[in-house]
Amino acid sequence: MDLDGLFAYDSVALNAQGDGVVIVDQTLLPWEERFLTLRDEYEVYEAIARLRVRGAPAIGIAAAYGLYVALRRVLERDGQGTGPDVDAEFRRIRDYLCSARPTAVNLSAALDRMTDCYMSVAGLGISGILSALRTEADAVKNDDMAMCRSIAEYGAGLITRPDMGILTHCNAGHYAVSRYGTALAPIYLAHSRGLAPRVYADETRPLLQGARITVLELMKAGVDVTLQCDSMAGSLMASGKVDMVLAGCDRVAANGDTANKIGTSVLAVLASYYGIPFYILGPTSSIDPSVPDGTGIPVEQRSPDEVTDLYFERRMAPAGVKVYNPAFDVTPAALISGIVTERGIFRPPFDFSNLKPDIQ
Ligand code: MRU
Repeated sequence: MDLDGLFAYDSVALNAQGDGVVIVDQTLLPWEERFLTLRDEYEVYEAIARLRVRGAPAIGIAAAYGLYVALRRVLERDGQGTGPDVDAEFRRIRDYLCSARPTAVNLSAALDRMTDCYMSVAGLGISGILSALRTEADAVKNDDMAMCRSIAEYGAGLITRPDMGILTHCNAGHYAVSRYGTALAPIYLAHSRGLAPRVYADETRPLLQGARITVLELMKAGVDVTLQCDSMAGSLMASGKVDMVLAGCDRVAANGDTANKIGTSVLAVLASYYGIPFYILGPTSSIDPSVPDGTGIPVEQRSPDEVTDLYFERRMAPAGVKVYNPAFDVTPAALISGIVTERGIFRPPFDFSNLKPDIQ
């Protein structure tokens, strides 16, 4: 079976009528695979902020389609708007969607692409503008799919023998992109080639993307997966069962410092101690050369209830306790063995100045 045989649908897509963004509500996984159709900027914003659609590439794609769908709705509702109004509406919707989550640069990168497209067709009239924006949003999704395929190939080159143990964190798989994933894509490819990788999935507190989503998609694909609490990673590495760590990314700074789900940097420190290679996988659209190092990456702070209440039958911390809940951490470049992109594997010292990898 090849990669396409593993996945029956795109995790984020435009509906057939072109007036809604279709997502799988990831807050309901693994209990229910419910598709939602988001019809305006408010629904798209809510879905991104609440993590109904999550994963850096997936939120970029959702925002690109969301911008198209919302603008189309506004223009159809207002009749044939005039130039300045279209401009104002475009910018209002774009800026609003861009503020839904701060860390993943894919969100602003996708909206920047939509803006460049809009600027290039602004004189065309409404149907021309909408048609160009729809084509561009499709391209954001299709490019993502192609990048994930390429990341799968480069990353699979690291899975050099049968039965390798791979530790992963959060979910950087099919649900986090349009298809295939980033950190999980090489695993699917190696699995399809008969190498039978053994995956260990961190549960990924507090929102359990590992336990709920990574485990679900790997099990559906028939990949050998074992779930562990985040705090068990040191014990697992000490046991010799982990050959490599593969994790996704939300934003890579110019020096290679990488923001990903909270807890990723802990794995990098442990991996360094135990001499285990630690790889980041993601498209070059996750690299942000405008940020010199990790201190410039904005880290989202989320609601305390995610730590104290969510996914527990009863609240499990005393009411009123102060809570620290950053959604991401930054792994220093010095702890990263390589960054696997659609263009190849960048090795330290990282230099993205011309976005050409050091090795293929
Ligand atoms: O808060 P989330 O679930 O959106 O965080 C997602 C991650 O940290 C992923 O590892 C990252 O976005 C890469 S997804 C291909």
